[in-house]
Amino acid sequence: MRILSGIQPSGSPHIGNYLGMMEPAIRLQDEGDAFYFIADYHALTSTHSAAALKENVNNLAIDFLACGLDPEKATFWKQSDVPEVTELTWILSCVTPMGLLERCVSYKDKIAQGISPSHGLFAYPVLQAADILIFDSDVVPVGKDQKQHIEVTRDIAIKFNDRYGEDLLRVPEPRIREETATVPGLDGRKMSKSYDNTILIFEATEKALRKKIMKIVTDSTPVEDPKDPEGSYLVELYALFASADEVEEMKASYRAGGQGYGHYKQQLFEKIRDHFAPMREKRDALAADPDYVNGVLETGAARAREKAREVLDRVRSATGLGS
Ligand code: ADP
Ligand code: TRP
Repeated sequence: MRILSGIQPSGSPHIGNYLGMMEPAIRLQDEGDAFYFIADYHALTSTHSAAALKENVNNLAIDFLACGLDPEKATFWKQSDVPEVTELTWILSCVTPMGLLERCVSYKDKIAQGISPSHGLFAYPVLQAADILIFDSDVVPVGKDQKQHIEVTRDIAIKFNDRYGEDLLRVPEPRIREETATVPGLDGRKMSKSYDNTILIFEATEKALRKKIMKIVTDSTPVEDPKDPEGSYLVELYALFASADEVEEMKASYRAGGQGYGHYKQQLFEKIRDHFAPMREKRDALAADPDYVNGVLETGAARAREKAREVLDRVRSATGLGS
């Protein structure tokens, strides 16, 4: 089974990215042939500084490795080191109906957030389809917001196969974990860097992490009164890191009253801090060893490129471009 996923280097990853995509991808590396990459071509749609792009790629590589991506198990590379994917993008563009892209909500969302509506932004899902299809991927672990892009990928693969020959491109399945499909942010909306409501995996300091968590929006129920744990983002976030018993304890304490929200925020802070503590240590070690990190990406790119070439040759030949 080929498992594939990508993540854009567009700033420090947050715990929504971690729980929605990185952690599931890391778990899956034991279950099949895992292929993970840093989507720097995609990031060009919104990051327009060369220095920032380079820095974001480097930091994301370090963060993903620190969180447990194991280069002995998974192939890990930078998207633009496999330029074959852009050739496949063009070929796929020629089977992609405009209407399919016009329906994509993430394009509309990004424009609404002020990203300039370039052709690259509009064609973003076709590049994503090429990323997936060029590796004969079976399973794509992502957060729920990427579901539509995987559906577009499936539609494009089916259209291509209809036109050029059955089974030329493998039709992938999304893998979306129900519990972490949409991790809430500090304000209860989906955690996202565009909403400025994130908790980073690696906040600069413990104090910064605590400060962020203290910002979680709660109602104004007085300390002594009982509180409703249902629909509380604080409880929802806690449940992502705590055991079932610990969550029940927090809920019971909510219902009993007598504690302010600050108390529960402190509990959440400690959970998140402790969860990421070993990864933070690993991250410091990786940051001090850039040769190792670059070596991982280079080895990964070579391996990924070999597979991409194979599928691209098949596609070139089917379309009349190749021999
Ligand atoms: P952002 O919304 O912060 O820009 P991205 O779009 O770069 O995040 O998402 C990268 C990956 O993380 C995708 O697989 C996406 O589905 C997942 N992801 C992002 N935010 C969340 C969230 N709040 N909950 C679950 N998964 C998420
Ligand atoms: N669009 C994805 C995101 O914003 C990143 C991505 C690019 C991706 N190519 C991919 C995810 C291929 C899965 C498979 O998160």
